[in-house]
Amino acid sequence: MSRSQWGSRLGFILAAAGSAIGLGAIWKFPYVAATNGGGAFLFIYLLICLSVGLALMLGEMALGRAANSNAVGSFRQLGGRAWPWVGFTGVLVCFLIYSFYSVVGGWTIAYIGKSLGGSILTSDAKVLGDTFNDFITDPVQPLIYHGLFAGLTLAVVLGGVQKGIENLSKFLMPALFVLMLVLIVRGLTLPGAMDGLLYFLTPDFGKVTGNMLVDAMGLAFFSLSLGMGVMITYGSYVGRDTPLLGSSLWVIALTVMTCFLAGLMVLPAVFAFGFDPSAGPGLTFITMPAVFAQMAGGQLFAVLFFCLLLVAALTSSVSLLEVVVSAVMDEFKLPRRRAALLVSAGVFLLGIPASLSLGIWSEYTVFGKGFFDLLDYVTSNVLMPVGEVLLAIFVGWRVWPVVQGQLAAAGHTPVWLRAMRGFCRYVAPVLILGILVHNL
Ligand code: PHE
Repeated sequence: MSRSQWGSRLGFILAAAGSAIGLGAIWKFPYVAATNGGGAFLFIYLLICLSVGLALMLGEMALGRAANSNAVGSFRQLGGRAWPWVGFTGVLVCFLIYSFYSVVGGWTIAYIGKSLGGSILTSDAKVLGDTFNDFITDPVQPLIYHGLFAGLTLAVVLGGVQKGIENLSKFLMPALFVLMLVLIVRGLTLPGAMDGLLYFLTPDFGKVTGNMLVDAMGLAFFSLSLGMGVMITYGSYVGRDTPLLGSSLWVIALTVMTCFLAGLMVLPAVFAFGFDPSAGPGLTFITMPAVFAQMAGGQLFAVLFFCLLLVAALTSSVSLLEVVVSAVMDEFKLPRRRAALLVSAGVFLLGIPASLSLGIWSEYTVFGKGFFDLLDYVTSNVLMPVGEVLLAIFVGWRVWPVVQGQLAAAGHTPVWLRAMRGFCRYVAPVLILGILVHNL
């Protein structure tokens, strides 16, 4: 079967950035940064993205293009028999992430409805907190929206790679940026917002803990969609002469910028309204309506914001589903339609306990964590870092000549190549393992 290709280099960058930019940047980054002390977390997050993140993204893209195959097949083709299970683990992680991602994606759909109804357009912390909690702890409603989100993702994926993803990202991503800028200006001009700005931008390295390092690393990989074969799969649709370094730099820059903007959008407002910065996963959903309530035409902004957040989430969930479907299709020789339906059904089922663990099943915990938190923690802070180490070893040691050939063919200079090899061989494994072990 011939593999489809991106329509253009821009299409590829937008699709990869579309995968990276999503709930990770706008929902997860603000609350994880807020609970981890703000400025120092931001600094460490940026450092990891721009060093190890860049090397691994380049590595994944080069692997995909060299093997011209999915996440599992690429490891098999290039590495031989021992390696495909690294790809399999990545695909499994995508599946696990997608299950709770779809639950949160459902929240954004629900919030479009709440914005239309106008019930959340208030700056009253209690009302906003209660609205969010009542909703996520409800045994039925979040499941309906979770199903809706998974269904939407399925529809996009069955529409085909190029049509579905490229078209969606091209117009709506820039719109999201503009809207975020408007919201930042509104937030920053609220009385008391400066405290939040300082909290977000002033690094206090006395607050650095092992836990924070693992969180920053996990979020870096999560937000860049790294270590699970997304960039391998997307890289396999790339033309021979596309410069990969420039493309990965663009993807990382856009993602990091979105995280930064999301922080600027949420944290000053949190402080201005006197909300609790450590409110956890509800932070963006609880804070932003308070900002809308302070704006002329606030309802319109609210609807627009949650619609654009939904699109950003969809371009990411599409990549999660695409990786799993692409692997299932090639490995089990299933037609695309059947593979996509099967995987989506599985994701929907797994999302049910994830969602219920925030409400009626909250008393069932493992290591003190409910199922939702456990899925999130195990994927971002355990499986992904371990996968990154193996990926770095694979790229830096096992198949370096192939990767080097890919990069050299696209015109990358020897200095970059040597730096990249050093990062994959030594810096990434030592750094990632160091952080993991330190945290134990
Ligand atoms: N990077 C996406 C986000 O931040 C989530 C994601 C993770 C997508 C891993 C694909 C793979 O929303």
